[in-house]
Amino acid sequence: MQKEIVVSGIRPTGHLHLGNYFGAMRNYVRMQEEYDCYFFVADWHSLTTHPDTKELQESVLGVLAENIAAGLDPEKVALYAQSALPEIAELYLYLNMLAYKGELEKTTTFKDKVRLNPDNVNAGLLTYPVLMAADILIHRAKYVPVGKDQEQHLEMARNFAQRFNYRYTELFPEPQAFNFGSKLIKVPSLDGSGKMSKSENQLATLYLVDDDDLIRKKVMKAKTDAGPTEPNSEMPDYIQNIFQLMALVSEESTVQKFRDDFNNANIRYGDMKKALAEDMVKFIAPIRQKAADILADKAYLKKVLDEGAEKAKDSARRTIEEARRLIGLNYL
Ligand code: TYM
Repeated sequence: MQKEIVVSGIRPTGHLHLGNYFGAMRNYVRMQEEYDCYFFVADWHSLTTHPDTKELQESVLGVLAENIAAGLDPEKVALYAQSALPEIAELYLYLNMLAYKGELEKTTTFKDKVRLNPDNVNAGLLTYPVLMAADILIHRAKYVPVGKDQEQHLEMARNFAQRFNYRYTELFPEPQAFNFGSKLIKVPSLDGSGKMSKSENQLATLYLVDDDDLIRKKVMKAKTDAGPTEPNSEMPDYIQNIFQLMALVSEESTVQKFRDDFNNANIRYGDMKKALAEDMVKFIAPIRQKAADILADKAYLKKVLDEGAEKAKDSARRTIEEARRLIGLNYL
């Protein structure tokens, strides 16, 4: 039986963090056994916000190394750089004719990026969701493992797929965001505001390359307060965030102990953060060490990219030939 197709990508705009891991990479690793997986480093996407490419190559290799260290097996999946498949750029061009300025301007990530960087509102940024749809549709993927922040992009990809199918006859399935039967997740930042992210507030983000002391320092700085004064009080957002992070890396019994302490109004946040910091160290340290070893072997990583592109090319070519035929661009 043919396996179902999975696609996902990560931008090489800095070191990967706990949000990337729990929102995406953990699912990549789980999916690699049962699905036909295409995972890539979204280097073209990074140019929309990071035009300076001095650190690009090192970042691309870093993303690869960190994914492999987290358990992704390049033998089982196609692991490649987006820019190795010009077919994606061609599909992006066709889909751009089916995407409207109004809907692109309304995209949440576009508005956020304009706010953060008002001097570089380029057309690539505006059409970011179209390129992302092309990444997915080029392999006719059914599932896309991503975090909650990508939900709107997936909805747009489905719209573009539908419009193509309607105009030129059925070619694309409608891709679904995926998290093993449960809701998409958003890993919160440590400062109590928003999600963990590669570039916003680095002290509130736990990177997979952080050393043990830095992890401890960041966790101990997480926002707390004097604690509840009455049993069964409502839990503030920033405390919920700490519990949410703890649920990702600690034993269930540890989380339950602190939950009971909170409900009994005798929680000591210092103790909770110490426990969380040690569990974070236990979780991150092995990935960090493995990633450093893998990153040192540049020849291996280049071979991974090469072989990954080779595997991905076949399906990309088939889709683009079919798209050309359906549009009527096959003159020979
Ligand atoms: P990027 O590079 O920002 O993030 C990579 C993956 O990590 C997830 N993620 C999170 N999940 C939970 N909590 C967080 N705090 C958190 N931060 C990041 C993201 O949801 C993502 O799954 N546009 C994409 C890259 C992309 C892509 C694609 C993804 C380009 N083309 C095609 C899927 C399919 C992005 O910027 O991810």
